[in-house]
Amino acid sequence: MTPSSSIASRVACIELNAPPVNSLGIALRRHIVDSVRAADADPQVAAIVLIGTEKAFSAGADVSEFGTPLQFETPMLRDVIAALESCSKPVVAAISGVALGGGLELALGCHARVALASARLGTPEIQLGLIPGSGATQKLPRLVGAERALAMMLTGQPLTADELTASGLLDRVVPQDLWAAASALALELAQADFPLSRARDRSVNADAARAAVSEALARFNARQRAQPAYQALLDAVQASALPFDAGMQRERELFLALMQSPEAAALRYQFRVQRESGKLPPSLSAESRDFDRVAVIGAGTMGSGIAIAALEAGLQVCLLEQSGEALARGSARISEHFVARVKAGKVDAAKAESLQGRLTATLDWSALQSVDVVIEAVFEDLAVKQSVFRQIDAHARADAVLATNTSYLDIDAIASVTSRPQDVLGLHFFSPANVMKLLEVVQGRDSAPDVIATGMALGRELKKTPILCGNAFGFIGNRIYNAYRKQCEFMLEDGAWPEDVDRALTDFGFAMGPFAVADLSGLDIAWRMRQAGAATRDPRERYVHILDRLCEMGRMGRKTQAGYYTYTDGKASPATDEVVRGVIAQASAARGIERSPLSAETIQRRALLAMVNEAALLFSEGVAHRAGDIDVVLVNGYGFPSWVGGPVHWARTQPRDLLEQELDRLVAANGFGAVRATPAMLDHLLG
Ligand code: NAI
Repeated sequence: MTPSSSIASRVACIELNAPPVNSLGIALRRHIVDSVRAADADPQVAAIVLIGTEKAFSAGADVSEFGTPLQFETPMLRDVIAALESCSKPVVAAISGVALGGGLELALGCHARVALASARLGTPEIQLGLIPGSGATQKLPRLVGAERALAMMLTGQPLTADELTASGLLDRVVPQDLWAAASALALELAQADFPLSRARDRSVNADAARAAVSEALARFNARQRAQPAYQALLDAVQASALPFDAGMQRERELFLALMQSPEAAALRYQFRVQRESGKLPPSLSAESRDFDRVAVIGAGTMGSGIAIAALEAGLQVCLLEQSGEALARGSARISEHFVARVKAGKVDAAKAESLQGRLTATLDWSALQSVDVVIEAVFEDLAVKQSVFRQIDAHARADAVLATNTSYLDIDAIASVTSRPQDVLGLHFFSPANVMKLLEVVQGRDSAPDVIATGMALGRELKKTPILCGNAFGFIGNRIYNAYRKQCEFMLEDGAWPEDVDRALTDFGFAMGPFAVADLSGLDIAWRMRQAGAATRDPRERYVHILDRLCEMGRMGRKTQAGYYTYTDGKASPATDEVVRGVIAQASAARGIERSPLSAETIQRRALLAMVNEAALLFSEGVAHRAGDIDVVLVNGYGFPSWVGGPVHWARTQPRDLLEQELDRLVAANGFGAVRATPAMLDHLLG
């Protein structure tokens, strides 16, 4: 693709070749500046092409330089871009693979851009609580207009060159022969009798920028309003209507302020702990078993979602049910999914057909003989699961890995009915299983290291974030969520209405409030679990009866148009109605509580402290292996705001004395049987 010599037909080729993805570390930055200067000075050279590898033009900043002096060593990216812009000869970026963040900004510093149709371009900075800091906020509006530039930068998602064809960002998009197209354009520019044009020389209409900014602001959701990077991005794009240098100055100020923000620090922390979360402790180091055939038992909500995730990863899937009807329902759900994906243009019809072609649906247990991994997703009932595992044990191959998708049940009790408890583990998916990234990989007492390694590898294969957990009630996520939900119920008795709690927590950044979540999942699931646990509950425990009363009245949540809220055409009432308020007021009176309103801050702190307390308890029990794993679980599976980092990260930002005092008060109010994490446990959790 690229010429063998560095100068061909008077076009100098500057190759970016810093594996794996041309991160813009100091060596590559120097190479670009030195090569551009040399080519500019060389009378043989008429034009220059900057080209990357097939995989990457450049994926942006070199994260390994973060926090080291190398990050600030000159030439910095800005200097590299200035060298390109001040070159007297045309410089063309030839883009294949990815051009992300600083990589895209490098391309924006060139006089023109040519890309392979498959190349992906974008500015992911917003996902780390930042805005682009080397000119993209000023140049993208100049090239593609303020509205499109905002759309690109607010999502942070890359677009393909194909999608950007007519946007103004790319001068040419070609299906192949990138070098030929880029060098031809470079020569054309060199021979043209008009001056070289640079993105910085264009201007942005102030009214158009203002309109785009106010439209974007009007569309902000609560989560975008809560994060300073979103507003900063709007400010930077508004500044693109200023003269270029003034706009760049504004971008710099905004960028530097965000670098110091607690939100960006929390997002960097999340990025780091997510990367670490896949690593197993040395005691579990083992090779994964091979797998390409998976059986999913139970084709309900979870089973069909798991089957879709496995099919989309290219695995062979065997779906097994107890009745033809249930099997047909599950199979139909899977094919509806693929039809919808094709209709939405997310996958082409032939590909969808080939993925779906790997699905077999059966009632015959002997089909298990040919699979590598079995994932059980039948009803949440120990006796049912045990009977299913007896069947699995009778039919699965001796080297198969056997997983249960239980939410709460004891993995050991399930494994104990098989002749091979060492091959059993928990794989706790989240709903919808083909969408949610989190996967709790639960280690039973006897689970073998290679079985755990296979669970983690399968999770990665399904594009999930697998987190290792110990086998304890609710594992990591549901256990902490239960403590949080329980605390929110206490707050109802103490004086808050459901909408006060939900609003305070969505204002804090949660995707949804706990009572809106409860209505969505159906109150009857919790009700059934409460009934099952009634016999073992100590009557002295602080137990909130509100949910039970609502269920007794037939208010099961959204599915019955009434739960904590009332629903009309699928829309929740803004406040709870008199019936629900009556139930809540009665619960307060029965406990002898004089209701008084709770401030949003009180609600937020009580909810968070309940999480932190439970996190410290379970961490001391070894249910999580790393404190950071807890934050990965809460952010990825429970709508905890990523820009707060997670409950552990949040607790680390709080004054320790205050945390201890508030925990004392909270646990005392929680009543009989409540367990407070000791200061030593908190030390262990918070490091
Ligand atoms: P579901 O009721 O939608 O589906 C269960 C399916 O299992 C039904 O289609 C049923 O016919 C089938 N089944 C029952 N006994 C069977 C047997 N002996 N052999 C073969 N198939 C059998 O339930 P859902 O919601 O999919 O839950 C399944 C499991 O996943 C439960 O353990 C649940 O706790 C867990 N889970 C559920 C989540 C959710 O949000 N729904 C989230 C995470 C885990």
